[in-house]
Amino acid sequence: MRRAAVLGLGAHRPAHREGNELIAERTDSSDQWIRERSGIVTRGIAGDDESVVDMAVAAGGKALAAAGIGPEDVDLVVVATCTLTHAVPGAAATVASALGTGGSGAFDLVAACAGFTYGVGLAADSVRGGSASNVLVIGSERFTSILDPYDRGTAFLFGDGAGAAVVGLSDQDGIGPVVWSSDGDQADVLRTESYPPVLRMEGRAVYRWATTSVPDMARRAVEAAGLELSDLAAFVPHQANLRITDSLVRSMKLPPSVVVARDVVDSGNTSAASVPLALCRLVEQGQVRRGDPVLLLGFGAGLTAAGQVVRCP
Ligand code: UT7
Repeated sequence: MRRAAVLGLGAHRPAHREGNELIAERTDSSDQWIRERSGIVTRGIAGDDESVVDMAVAAGGKALAAAGIGPEDVDLVVVATCTLTHAVPGAAATVASALGTGGSGAFDLVAACAGFTYGVGLAADSVRGGSASNVLVIGSERFTSILDPYDRGTAFLFGDGAGAAVVGLSDQDGIGPVVWSSDGDQADVLRTESYPPVLRMEGRAVYRWATTSVPDMARRAVEAAGLELSDLAAFVPHQANLRITDSLVRSMKLPPSVVVARDVVDSGNTSAASVPLALCRLVEQGQVRRGDPVLLLGFGAGLTAAGQVVRCP
């Protein structure tokens, strides 16, 4: 019987941070409006040497170091991203070469803000099924490549960064069954237009879907892991915006003992990178400990959603 667990985590946050003032000036908004509607105070902005690939390599390398394994031990690299400005080549093979995985498998996964949690689900099943012993799952996003800086609906919301996890063989099962869903009837509410791509969003529709459909997925993921909500040490939802997180917590009736990740305040919405970045922050701050059960929940464009309970590495 092969078992899978998260063995290590890594984060890359761009050094350059941007507050709300300049964005507010450009979009006829205000720091107060942005804070009230999204909770966001600052976000990371990638420099010229911080492409989707560069940031993925940085976060992936840290996750390998944290897991205590070398790049040659990696069988598969999965890069979840939706902010490449071209369709081919994907990022994963370049990331694998840069890390030195020696010709391992590599592919990109496009499930927007749910990309990382889809990736962890696939990685766990690959390890259990025997097609890989170590999978490096990375969420890496460079939103500044696809944002219209004058769009009032999106310019303030998104940021850049990358987060990664090594999913590998373990004595104890540390990854619960993945729960996933989609709603292609609402594909248009979060999409890119034109070439090069520019992000467009119908904010109210996304908000409605996230706050009405996603809470049930959270409950199902916890149930699938054979746990109750009160067994959780932490809840790490996709960092869409603080109002959505707070609404999820209310709808789920999450006990106050469960720590809730609120990394969006400092990082903005980093789509596929948001869940691993937020989880890393909880670990760095000592808010969760080794072995603690944490509910991960990704949701976003597609529309797509996926979640599972993982034990903290
Ligand atoms: O990964 C998934 C990511 N997506 C999300 O998390 C988006 C979810 N959606 C939301 O959080 C909200 O829809 C937003 C925060 C994006 C927008 O808030 P809203 O309350 O849905 O705004 P709205 O577009 O319905 O506009 C409400 C008011 C309007 O003014 P009036 O007509 O009521 O006077 C807008 O003109 O807010 C105004 N407004 C703004 N004011 C200042 C819209 N955008 C801005 C802005 N600054 N940036």
